[in-house]
Order: sequence, then C-alpha cells, then structure tokens
Amino acid sequence: MTIQDTIYLSDYTPFGFIVEDVHLTFKLAPTTTRVISRIRFAPNPDSPSRDFFLHGEGLNLQWAKVDGADVTPEIIKGGLRCDVPDAAFTWECEVEIDPQGNTALEGLYMSNGMYCTQCEAEGFRNITFYPDRPDVMSKFTVRIEGDSPVLLSNGNPVDSGDGWAEWHDPWPKPAYLFALVAGDLRNFPGSFTTMSGRDVELNLWVRPGDEGKCAFGMEALKKSMTWDEETYGREYDLDIFNIVAVDDFNMGAMENKGLNIFNSAVVLASPETSTDSNFERIEAIIAHEYFHNWTGNRITCRDWFQLCLKEGLTVFRDQQFTGDMRGHAVKRINDVVTLRSRQFREDSGPLAHPPRPDQFVEINNFYTVTVYEKGAEVINMLKHLVGDDGYKKALDLYFARHDGDAATIEDWLQVFEDATGRDLTQFKHWYTDAGTPHLKVTDNFENGTYTLNFTQETAPTPGQDEKPARVIPIAVGLLNPNGDEVVPTQILEMTEAAQSYSFEGLNAKPVPSILRGFSAPVVLERETSATEQAFMLAHDTDPFNKWEAGHALTREVLINMTQGGTPDQGLLDGLAAVARDHSLDPAFRALALALPGQDNIASTLAARDITPDPDKIWRALQTLKQAVAQHLQDIWPRLLAEMATPGPYSPDAEPAGKRALHGVALSYLSQIDGGASAENAYASAGNMTEQLSALACLLSVEKGQDELAAFRKQWQNDRLVMDKWFGLQVSYASPQTCVETAQRLSQDDDFNWKNPNRFRAVFGALMMHHAGFHRADGAGYDLLADWLIKLDPVNGQISARMSTGYETWKRYDAARQAKARAALERINATPDLSRNLGEMVTRILGA
Ligand code: BES
Ligand code: ZN
Repeated sequence: MTIQDTIYLSDYTPFGFIVEDVHLTFKLAPTTTRVISRIRFAPNPDSPSRDFFLHGEGLNLQWAKVDGADVTPEIIKGGLRCDVPDAAFTWECEVEIDPQGNTALEGLYMSNGMYCTQCEAEGFRNITFYPDRPDVMSKFTVRIEGDSPVLLSNGNPVDSGDGWAEWHDPWPKPAYLFALVAGDLRNFPGSFTTMSGRDVELNLWVRPGDEGKCAFGMEALKKSMTWDEETYGREYDLDIFNIVAVDDFNMGAMENKGLNIFNSAVVLASPETSTDSNFERIEAIIAHEYFHNWTGNRITCRDWFQLCLKEGLTVFRDQQFTGDMRGHAVKRINDVVTLRSRQFREDSGPLAHPPRPDQFVEINNFYTVTVYEKGAEVINMLKHLVGDDGYKKALDLYFARHDGDAATIEDWLQVFEDATGRDLTQFKHWYTDAGTPHLKVTDNFENGTYTLNFTQETAPTPGQDEKPARVIPIAVGLLNPNGDEVVPTQILEMTEAAQSYSFEGLNAKPVPSILRGFSAPVVLERETSATEQAFMLAHDTDPFNKWEAGHALTREVLINMTQGGTPDQGLLDGLAAVARDHSLDPAFRALALALPGQDNIASTLAARDITPDPDKIWRALQTLKQAVAQHLQDIWPRLLAEMATPGPYSPDAEPAGKRALHGVALSYLSQIDGGASAENAYASAGNMTEQLSALACLLSVEKGQDELAAFRKQWQNDRLVMDKWFGLQVSYASPQTCVETAQRLSQDDDFNWKNPNRFRAVFGALMMHHAGFHRADGAGYDLLADWLIKLDPVNGQISARMSTGYETWKRYDAARQAKARAALERINATPDLSRNLGEMVTRILGA
C-alpha cells in the first residue's frame, strides 16, 4: 500500500465551531442500533474556518436537520459536510449502526451479549457524526433505551425507568472519553469519601459469575483515590465512579470519564486464578486509569500528537504509585527491564519516533512504548533536574493553569519553566527527537582528583539525521575500594556532546556508580572488568545499580558464550552470594538471579554491529542456566524451604517477592532434577502463582504433558486462565517446536481468534519467543503473516500491533532477512489491508 493521508502536527488548526452541549439518545438493538444526536454549535471566535465537517465512518444516516429544518449533507470520505448558519445553531441527526457486526472493537460493539464502547482515539466517529478531535470539548447528556438491566454512561445518573436510563456529565470532555455500557451485569459495590468530605459511590460491574473476582480491584481503586489526594492533591469530581469488565477489548483499559472500561484480564482477580504479576498489574492499571481523571480528562490533549502529555505523565504517576505500594527498588528495575527490552528496541529500528511524533497515518499505531514508557522517563528526568520541590510546584501550576484545557507539550514545559525559572529549550529535544543516546564514559585518577569524561551520541532515526546533544541528568556516586561510599549520589547535568566532571580530595581511585536509579533513558557504555562488576554487585548502595552490575556481568558472559566462551566463575560466585544474602529483599534476589532475555542479548549484539544468531543465543542461555543451576545446587532446596508462603494467599509485595524467589529456585532446580521438584510443586500448589510457575518449569524441561491436560480440565470454564494455558505452551516450547505448537493451538476448538486476549496469548507468545520466531527456515515469520492477514479485516488494530514482531528483522543474517522480507511483502500485497497494518508494514519494510 502507498501511504496516503499523512497527518502533520504543523497543520493543526482549531475547529471552526465550539460545541455548547451534546444530547445523545441510543435505541439499542444488536444489528440496528439507532443513535439520535442533538448538538448545539456556535462559531468559534478563535478560528477563521467555517467549514462544517463532521467525522463519521460506517454510519447509515437516516436524516439530518439544522435548526429543525431538513438538510441533505454531502457525505464524503470519513464524514460529512453541510452548509450551516453563521451563528449558533442546532444540529440533529439519526444514524443506524451495527454493534453486533463490529469486530474491530472500536466504537459501539458487543461482547458476550453486552453493549460496550471504545472511543479513544477516533472511535466516536463510528457512533455518530461529530467533530471527533480531542480539542473539541463539550457536556454530554445521554439517554439509553434498551432491554438490558444495566444501562451506564459517563457522569452522574439523572433518572431511569423500565428499559431506559439518562446520564449527565457536567464536565466538558472530548468525544474520545465518551462511554456507554448495557448488559446483564452484576455489581460489586464500594464507597469512598473524598478529602473534602464528598461521598462517592463506587461500582465494579462484571458478568454473572465473576462477582468473586472483584474485591482486589475495588481495594486498588480506593488506594488510588487516596494516593492521588495525598500525593498530587487531586480529588475525584463526580458522585459515582463505575468500572466495567469486558472480555473483548483491544487494549488493557480505558479512562472514560466516570465509566472506566477494563479488559477483564486486567481487573478480575482471585488467588486461584491470578498470579502475583496479575495482581500487581491490576493494581497499576486501575491506578493508571483513575489517575487519568486529572491527567487526561480534566486536562486533555489538544491533538493526538500530544498523546504523551497524558500517557507519559499518567504512566509516571502509576509508576510512583506502585513504588509507594510495593517498593521502589524492585519497581524501578522492572520498569527499566521493560523500557530496554521494548522501547530501546523500538527506538533503534524502523519504527523509531519521538515521544511527541510530528506525523502519523493511523494514530492507533502511536500508542507505543516510546509514547508511554519513554514519555514517563522524560518526566523522571525533569524531576531529577528541577528537584522534588520544583516538580511539585510545576504540577500544582499545571493543574491550576490548565484545568479544563486541551493542552500541549509546550504548555507542559512552560509550567516547569515558570515554576522553577529553568530554561527547558534544550530539554525539549527529549520530546521531539527519536533515538536512544549512547553515553560513553572514561575515567582517570591523578593527585587525589577523579575525573569522569562523558561523550553522548545518538544514531540517526527514520526522518531525523541531525541529533543535537541532549540534557542528560546523570546520577553518580563513588565508592572507595573497600566498598564504602565516599561521594553520595549527585546529579551531573550533561548538556554538551562531550563533558568532564571532577571529584577532588580522594585518597584512592574510587569505583564509580554511574546512572544510579537509571536517571536517564540512555545506553551507558563503559569498559569495566568482570571483577569491578562483581564488586558493584556486592557493594553498590544504589539498588538499581547493584542489580545492573549483576545484570551487565551476566549479559557480557552470555555474549562471550555466543562466541564460544564458557560460563564465568566470578559470575557464578557473585550470583551465589546474592542468592545467599538474607539481608536482600527476596524480590530483589529473584530479579538478580533471572537471566537476561534472548532479545536483550540480540539487541546488545546488534548495537555492536554483530549479527545475532538466535540459535547460539538460545544455547548460551541454556548452558548458563545449567551452569548456574549446578553451581548453586545446594542453595535451591534451601531457598524452596525458606521462601515457602504457607497460610492463606496474600498478593502483597512481601509474600509475592518470596514466591518470585521460590519460582526462580524451582526453575533452576528443574534443570538438574529432571522436573521432580516441579512435579511436587504442581501437585501441592495452593494458588495460581505456584501452579503456573511449576507448570512452566515442567514445560521448559520438556515434561508436564499430564499436568497440562489436568490444568485444562480444571480451568476449561475460566477464559482468563485458559489464556494462560494457551500462552504458556508457546512461551516454554523449544525453538524447534514453538511454531508447530502455536500452529496446533490455533486449530484448537477453544482458540477463538477474534478475541484479542486469546489471539495474543498464542501469537504474542510466538513473536516474543526469540529463537522460535526467528527460526532459520522462516516458519515463524510465515505463520505470523498468515494470521495477521487473516485477522486484519476483522481487527486491524490488533493485526497492526502484532506486526511489531518483525520490527527487528534487519538485525539478522541475509537468509533470515530474505524470509522476513518475503513475509512482510506478502502482507503488504494483501488487497484492502487496513490503514493500521498498512502503515506498520510500510514503516517496518523501510525505504
Ligand atoms: N488511554 C489508554 C487506553 C487506550 C489505548 C485507548 C490505546 C485507545 C487506544 C489507557 O489509559 C492506557 O494507557 N491503557 C494501557 C494500560 C496502562 C497501565 C499503560 C493499556 O491499555 O495497555
Ligand atoms: Zn493511559
């Protein structure tokens, strides 16, 4: 496909009209829902345009009126145009839509007999004709007519009767925050009193049978409400807050005003069916969507280029929240692992783009790790640069100045400048430039003075060749050779391409701890010895860098092993010391003992211009796993005993950390005991965390077929657990059997490929199985292509997201590249490809 219709940030102009209010009536019917709109428009004094264009897609217009008189609008691609008065007027129309036939899950659709909406980013135009852009904000009144017992929309309930309900949202909002839900739902109620003493009714709406999986989500919501009051001074602003769980949902969850809609996988939880990571994720997503009420809803985005204004900030806020709830060290390590494995990968390939892009074809393709995770990192850097007080002042000013606005990144940076007096001109490059800076460090010590010399460099990215120097906050501390900290953490502010910093009055050459807490999203390159890394693993007082030292050491050993090296004794001893160190948090120990992912090794090799060989990487990891398992063989049984969590299950961080370490010990032990311990662990598992971790251990040593069958029998009626059953088999398959496993599962009677969770369970696991997906014969590339082509006409958002499996294709050898290219070209040659997948494949293929 050729890319047409590119939208540019520089083309922004305000809409020619303001929307004074919106009245919507829905007459629900599965294939013939009627939507009647009555909207007051007035000329926008801030816009010269009087072009009355309303977005609308897939709508069957019945009639339209302006000020009560019939009109015949011109129906054009993507919407309609109509002649309207040069003064305030009322627009009315009726459209028919087909929720049942809506498999793309954008706009109004049906899931298990329930009506549900998803309007971000541009789904409202599938519901009725409207200026579907985030800077057009209005007050919505909604009447729903339908035979479902529960009828919900945004805002506060106004009135209801048999077969109808009315809602009014007093807060002006863009159409992307509109929501409607109707169905036979059960309520898990709660309540919250805000800091100013207002009572808020809380409801969690679920399908009959899921009532027992609501308590944790409800608690998470209350914790989030309290946290945002205490930490940011933000109070909830409606009488009611509804959350609905739905099984068919493209994303995780959505922050519709007063009516959040969640993928059931990220809100329903019970100890029997959910793992510790599920619980942690649920708490974080509930917080995230709730926090959007201020950072996203009260202050929204002027246009979709500003997406990271709400998403980066809200991710930053949910990260702070999870840190406060569950411990900052482990949270930071987990976030950096995600950032490096997904965002660095994106930032160094054909899909690289800035946190604030300046052009797109399909906005859904820009809900990326760069916008989200790097967007959050940029705020973390800002906070380092202006300090905690400066950050607080800036945020207070942001809320005071922009409440009710559709704002921009410029507005955001301006509040930091005004609140702190800092000039952020150079800092802004973090928002506008793509690519991950590489920070090189050398050091020298002379006459008691220790000097660190830094250079920074960012490789060109698609469409951006020039890469001016960034402002980089580098958190540094110094240890002396006996392991004591001689210079505590301070922030060095790098602003030039090359810069040096000196520390005077030292008795001996110190060991530097650089980029503590991962103070900037950069790749740090420094020649160090394994001895020094082992020293830092043992002594660094910064928990992130302590973990990082072990991680970097392991990674170097693995890289060495891919070139024929053998496991390093120093590393094995270092890991043994960590495993035995009872002063360390079990969750931290679990992270330190985990080996880097295959893709991480591949990325590191690619960054050094070495072609990664997926089979060699897989073998190096297997060999190292064996070596660690054997070297620490007397420690594993002890850890299994020490990390047992008898008694009733609690998802709290402390027992979850113990279970994580227990799981790591079991997985190493399985490497040397043929799966015997894992079989016992499976048989005696008291919760899903233990059950799943034991099953994974068995599958990874090519055992567990009986357990797999038993698991299916036990959980066949639980769709969320069955997603795990599907995914696990692919994730823990060997490189040789991974593709066939995915292929076989895709033929299973329970493989409902139109359900995004089930599709992702199998094909998400395939694209993330490095050696399996990048199999030399191209079978992984071909199977994914077959399914993306099949899925695309049904759900273009999901097919596009999953095409990122190919984003690293140019890293590999010529034979693999040829196979990947053939698969991508086959997708590209498919007639009527969605705009979503078309744009992605074009970008991945590159010029
Ligand atoms: N606003 C998004 C949901 C969304 C994403 C709607 C893309 C339309 C297109 C929501 O706030 C969100 O970011 N959800 C994340 C989870 C979050 C914890 C990062 C998601 O759905 O994955
Ligand atoms: Zn969000």
